[in-house]
Amino acid sequence: MFPRVRLRRLRRTEKLREMVGETTLQPSDLIYPVFVDETLSRRVPIESMPGQWRLPLEELPALAEEMVSLGIPAVMLFGIPARKDARGSGAADAEGVVQRAVRELKRTSGDELVVITDVCLCEYTSHGHCGVVEGGEVLNDPTLEVLARVAVSHAEAGADIVAPSDMMDGRVGAIRQALDDAGFERVGIMSYSAKYASSFYSPFRDAARSSPAFGDRRSYQMDFRNAREALREVELDIAEGADIVMVKPALAYLDVIARVRESFRVPVAAYNVSGEYAMIKAAAAAGYLEERSAVMEVLTAIKRAGADLILSYHAPDVARWLQEVR
Ligand code: PBG
Repeated sequence: MFPRVRLRRLRRTEKLREMVGETTLQPSDLIYPVFVDETLSRRVPIESMPGQWRLPLEELPALAEEMVSLGIPAVMLFGIPARKDARGSGAADAEGVVQRAVRELKRTSGDELVVITDVCLCEYTSHGHCGVVEGGEVLNDPTLEVLARVAVSHAEAGADIVAPSDMMDGRVGAIRQALDDAGFERVGIMSYSAKYASSFYSPFRDAARSSPAFGDRRSYQMDFRNAREALREVELDIAEGADIVMVKPALAYLDVIARVRESFRVPVAAYNVSGEYAMIKAAAAAGYLEERSAVMEVLTAIKRAGADLILSYHAPDVARWLQEVR
């Protein structure tokens, strides 16, 4: 032991630290979430997420080009439709905002960019819930058919991966079946498997205009007290056909990421959500911390916990910073 053993020896210079670094964050680990708003002809800043925008369809080719040049392999698409109704019927429309966005991205980038689509109803329902509502309740089984139709419409548009974020029971199986029946056995599923009912989604709901009009999402999203239950969610999703599983949010759930990583062999994604982004942005704007080093620390920690993939609004910044140090 000490004085023969001195752990500080390997911390002496930047090169030494790099050599023995256990975790390396790379642009290829990142997925950039994007909001596409069909009512816009020019980009509009999202107030609660400084530096993020609602984009018009016209700006997608430039965005795709930027992602490819930064080495970011994938985007996650969220649509903001012009019209909503009680059943969220716009979500499966072939001419809907996400379907058009997918076609635009695939037309310009082909296989250079992996296009992932968020499959949910909350942006399309007038009540803002993630499923079909009756008598103030979010119904599970009737929602499955709708979600399956939405997923197939995304696949028809050319999505590489669909990502159900609704937290209905059985949705991965229903979506897998519908995709296969429609001849889309090649399209993957990244499931928001362990998605917690979290206060860290508020900036997103402002961005996507998807706040529930009544109640909250605790009857379908997970309770933050639970971690073992997350393993059950993940296990079921894998059995139903999920190719990638996700834990969301990331920062307050690093233990869940680590346990999922240890327990299963599929790729694990973690969603560094809007509130986590906004928190750093606000603290940095106030001068309480330095954005770049805080973000690198947070994203590296998410990877260290066991995430193979990280969804983050900071993705382009991080990719740029990584290019600078290289
Ligand atoms: C849709 C969905 C949400 C997020 C991703 N997909 C919001 C919610 O569940 O209310 C949140 C993403 C973020 O906060 O960055 N169901």
